[in-house]
Amino acid sequence: MVCLGNICRSPLAEGILKSKIEESNLNIIVDSAGTSGYHAGQSPDPRSIDKALEYGIDISLQRARQFQSSDFNEFDIIYAMDRSNYSDVIALANSEEEMKKVKLILNESLRNKDQSVPDPYYGEEDGFENVYQLLDEACENIVTQLSK
Ligand code: 4NP
Repeated sequence: MVCLGNICRSPLAEGILKSKIEESNLNIIVDSAGTSGYHAGQSPDPRSIDKALEYGIDISLQRARQFQSSDFNEFDIIYAMDRSNYSDVIALANSEEEMKKVKLILNESLRNKDQSVPDPYYGEEDGFENVYQLLDEACENIVTQLSK
């Protein structure tokens, strides 16, 4: 799960997907990172922590890190939160095969529309509820596919 800062959107995406994977008894490793290193080492934004807790998910122990090209070796699918994250991750790919691993997460719910998860960092509190709902639906579909 990749966004810009790895403190707002991708930590929520990581927490939501991990929770659904545990419920489904799947054995899949989920992680998140930011295309920037601005917030490396920091906890998720308190607004993301609170939003996740509202839905029974604890993301408070996550720590931000920057996405690295070696992540292409570690992960089979890389979900970008927005189009800018998508281009930044694609720019780090070393092969066609690596590029194919990168997807926009909302294409899992709003099919082939190339929609972005809006960045809630500078916005109001309700932006986090919107982000949560968008990610919850996309992650539900991801787990359904992985279960097949
Ligand atoms: P995120 O949100 O990419 O969802 O973690 C942001 C966090 C920090 C900044 C921008 C977006 N920032 O500019 O510091």
